[in-house]
Amino acid sequence: MMPINDRNKGKGNKLAGLIKSTLATRLSIALIFIVILSSIATLLAGQHWMERYNEEVAQKLNASIAMYITNEYELVNKEGDAPNLEALRRLSHQAMIINPIAEVYLLDTKGNVIAHALPDPVKAAKVSLEPIKAFIKNPQILPIHGTDPRDPTRNQIFSAAEIRNQQNLQGYLYVVLGSKLHSEISNTTKDSQSRSMAVISIIMIGIIVTLTGLVIFRMLIKPLRSLSQQIQTFSCNQLRSDQKGTPTIQPASKLSSCDGISHKDEIEQLEDVFNEMSNQIEQQFKLIKETDHTRRELIANISHDLRTPLSSVQGYLETLIIKDRSLNESERTLFLKKAMNSSNRLCQLIGELFELSKLDSPSAEPNFESFSLIELAYDTLQELEIDLTNKGINYEVRTAFNNLQVYADISLIQRVFENLIRNAITYTPENGIIILDFDTTSGSAIDAIKISISDSGAGIHKQDLPYIFDRFYRDPNNSREGRNSTGLGLAIVKRILELHNSPITVESIIDKGTRFEFSLPNAT
Ligand SMILES: Nc1ncnc2c1ncn2[C@@H]1O[C@H](COP(=O)(O)OP(=O)(O)OP(=O)(O)O)[C@@H](O)[C@H]1O
Ligand SMILES: [Mg+2]
Repeated sequence: MMPINDRNKGKGNKLAGLIKSTLATRLSIALIFIVILSSIATLLAGQHWMERYNEEVAQKLNASIAMYITNEYELVNKEGDAPNLEALRRLSHQAMIINPIAEVYLLDTKGNVIAHALPDPVKAAKVSLEPIKAFIKNPQILPIHGTDPRDPTRNQIFSAAEIRNQQNLQGYLYVVLGSKLHSEISNTTKDSQSRSMAVISIIMIGIIVTLTGLVIFRMLIKPLRSLSQQIQTFSCNQLRSDQKGTPTIQPASKLSSCDGISHKDEIEQLEDVFNEMSNQIEQQFKLIKETDHTRRELIANISHDLRTPLSSVQGYLETLIIKDRSLNESERTLFLKKAMNSSNRLCQLIGELFELSKLDSPSAEPNFESFSLIELAYDTLQELEIDLTNKGINYEVRTAFNNLQVYADISLIQRVFENLIRNAITYTPENGIIILDFDTTSGSAIDAIKISISDSGAGIHKQDLPYIFDRFYRDPNNSREGRNSTGLGLAIVKRILELHNSPITVESIIDKGTRFEFSLPNAT
């Protein structure tokens, strides 16, 4: 059965998958938004232009109404100072029957309403003459809107004609083509079938455009998505292999994209991968530069260290050849011994370099086995017995256990003991003491054995401590004393313990002593 936590995690992943923000999803949302907006805009614009078109048609059809009425009816008396109300009433009645959208007004020359035949009083006593004059002058450019005396807040299309007696302008006949009845009918037809059909058509077009757009988007984005997936797989594989190689904790953001719960679209993912890769390239360039620098330094050190004993051997041999006759027996033996020492040193250096390069090679794998650590320590001490006795140095092996089995490479760990104890002998004055301490790590389960090697020697300066494990690092005083030192001993120790995943630490007090400590996996 799946644990509750895992089930919740599964649900979370599903949800994340559903709302996964791919580029296609984002573009689809944008497309749907654009289609909805443009549909609304088309609907509103269509309505506006349709109304304008209707007005133009209505005004064109009824353009000559006013002219016709003024020709047929005598609406003002001969003097031109009073309207013919009876004629107006009749006219209005007939107009309402023939054309219900028309409302007839009689205006004086200044635009004042002097008579009308509406049952209710009008709200505007005066109308603007400008549109009326424009209509009379050029009745082709339509629609023209004029004041509606019934509702001055609205402008309406109209027909108009001048009323003249002989040549004298007596007023205007103003026929508004948007009567109360017209507005009422127009309002009731707003939801007419043709209007609903227009809305349905626009919605259908919107859906078709959206679906087509989505299909086209998916087709266009397909290669980009596959490229992004390939790059992501490549970078995730690299990340995992990096994690196997170096046990460092990767940032969560990097791992989440590899677990498939990224909320980023393809372009953002490509951007991330590009940034990651450029960072890696930058780091690798840095590493190459550093490695190149270290390599140059190493070559310089190696050539220097090889040349010194070699030229010393050459020097003694040359002296022996040149001064052969003048040298007595003891001098000859001394020179040969010195040449021998230098050649031994050369061999030691070449041997250590060879050992280090073997440990450095990627195929270097410790040969793990279970063995007794204390036995190995005694064996090593026995090998170094002569050096210990020569310097009168005592040693102690401290442990509360009789048998401590570790799981490690026996010959490599022996090399670690050898190098550390040899250093302790070298840097401890006569009659000093070396202590080897074996302890278990605290806790109920003993999973590691702690090993420390301390001496009562000269100690190491605080400022030198960070460098003692570097290759070719030696205490500058050593060379002065002419010791057979290569500066590779601790570098070999560190590399061997790295292969056992065990860090080594050092503590030192000047003139008191030095203590090295590391641990190995318990095999008991
Ligand atoms: N126990 C110690 N006490 C004091 N100084 C030490 C001790 N162990 C190491 N050092 C310092 O660290 C330096 C580096 O040690 P390392 O063993 O790498 O080189 P080395 O002893 O000089 O030469 P070799 O490669 O022959 O061992 C030494 O030169 C010495 O100055
Ligand atoms: Mg050493």
